[in-house]
Amino acid sequence: MPTVILGINAFHGDSSAALVVDGKLISAVEEERFNRVKHWAGFPAESIRWCLKDAGLKPQDIDHVAVNFNPRANWQVKAAFALRNFASAREYIWSRLKRQGRQSSMRQDVADALGCTAEEIRAQFHSVEHHQAHIASGFPVSPFQEAAILSIDGMGDFVSAMMAGGEGNNWKVYNKTYYPHSIGLLYSAFTMYLGFPHFGDEYKVMGLAPYGKPLYVEKIRKLIRPTTTGYELNLDFFKHHKEGIRLGWDGGSPTVAPFYSELMEKEFGPTRDPKTPLTDYHQDLAASLQVVTEEIIFHLLNVLHKIHPSDNVVIVGGVAMNSVANGKVTQNSPFKNVFVPAGAADNGGSFGAAFYVWHRVLGQPRSFVQTHGQWGPGVDDAECEAAIREAGLPVKKLTQAELIETATQALSDGKVFGWFQGRMEFGARALGSRSLLADPRRTDMRELINLKIKFREKFRPFAPSILEEYVEEYFEINAPAPFMEKVFKIKQDKREGIPAVTHVDGSGRLQSVGKVANPLYWELIEGFRKKTGIPLVLNTSLNENEPIVNTPKQALSCFLRTKMDAIALGSYWVTR
Ligand SMILES: [Fe+2]
Repeated sequence: MPTVILGINAFHGDSSAALVVDGKLISAVEEERFNRVKHWAGFPAESIRWCLKDAGLKPQDIDHVAVNFNPRANWQVKAAFALRNFASAREYIWSRLKRQGRQSSMRQDVADALGCTAEEIRAQFHSVEHHQAHIASGFPVSPFQEAAILSIDGMGDFVSAMMAGGEGNNWKVYNKTYYPHSIGLLYSAFTMYLGFPHFGDEYKVMGLAPYGKPLYVEKIRKLIRPTTTGYELNLDFFKHHKEGIRLGWDGGSPTVAPFYSELMEKEFGPTRDPKTPLTDYHQDLAASLQVVTEEIIFHLLNVLHKIHPSDNVVIVGGVAMNSVANGKVTQNSPFKNVFVPAGAADNGGSFGAAFYVWHRVLGQPRSFVQTHGQWGPGVDDAECEAAIREAGLPVKKLTQAELIETATQALSDGKVFGWFQGRMEFGARALGSRSLLADPRRTDMRELINLKIKFREKFRPFAPSILEEYVEEYFEINAPAPFMEKVFKIKQDKREGIPAVTHVDGSGRLQSVGKVANPLYWELIEGFRKKTGIPLVLNTSLNENEPIVNTPKQALSCFLRTKMDAIALGSYWVTR
């Protein structure tokens, strides 16, 4: 009988579920894709149901359930902190009780999700320390048999950074940086201060940074300083250590209340109202914040390399979503190879917790490498055809060769179309399964997409998907980036030819597309290359002010709501 482990990220942002069967990732999906609430932070009931259904398993078949938090982890540090900070002690005790309550009801929650009784769930339940789950979402699924590991986020189980070194199926933790000190929280605080109030808006600040000049680096350095093994916040600028982080979700997208103190506004001026335009000052602050964040990340990596000298590093946790920093690691530390998984943030805590159980609880060897991100629900032509008919649209089924020819012709004609193929991507970025594609050569493409499909802030760049064979020709660094997890500089002489995917500072957040990992998408880009000589396309997510579409029906609804020119839905080319 195979060993079935269900991994869960619940009651954190980007709630998700994943199945690891005999040490191999079988499926993973975020709950927001089902319930259509961005960054949903409740219990991933539909994701759990889908994972089991997809694998043809019954509730009784689950051997282990792994959850990516452990209220008992680091409890001494938590208790000491609560005593020192009396104002937040009550809150701490309250949240701890709530957490423990949830933990004990986890079996019931899983049973409810699967429509059975708690007694029918015979699985053993495991609480995995948050950063251990992050680490297990990266190192054991990386191509490295041996590596240094940095887990870094806002905070989980009272820790914001963990350094470790891994070999085979095992890893050793070297040190931890504890709450309230957190580089992730520094970035979040500035994100809110700069007028981006929504959970998960940090990537917008990262996109804004290249427009500014880093004029305020010295000033921001006053908020955080490197220490021997980590960093320390200047808590005068914050109040989370006194009042806690107020994460609410109440059935909708999660919200976080601002947690910087009055000193922040005294030092940097009033918080930007989201309705007011961004000024040079805001751009300069974003640029400065990015510089200071990178300084801290590279400091940590250099410390880690001294403890664990290696060519390989795995970076995980919410801060590993800073693709700009990830792209500079090899120039700013001795590491030569960088792996960041699809699902480096809390979403990946589901399969991370599951892999922790497989390797560290069950002691099993490694047998899996995450080479692609397509772990979600798949598509079948019958479902596509039914959805097209229901929408009253013309049904036009093509062979694969015809589909590639039609799509590449549309690209070179300047059309913008949906590309809905195969299993849905896991994680924040569309990777060619639920994507919106366009010609990267056109200077007006950004405006065109904004006009036709989705409004997004003008400063946010679009990303290129490039055949992996051509990364070296187009980028200053030649390294794989299959999950859009790294930003590299585009070679000077190539920038002019692909303006729609070249950011203002000449960089591009590339997805390197492999023929084996993503064959159909590779064929499409190769088709475009044959037509135009350009081995890349503009790729953005297939959605409109909502989570990435999951089903053919949602894809068609997005198509009909917007002015995109066409959509390739499985084997069908759908036009108006
Ligand atoms: Fe985390």
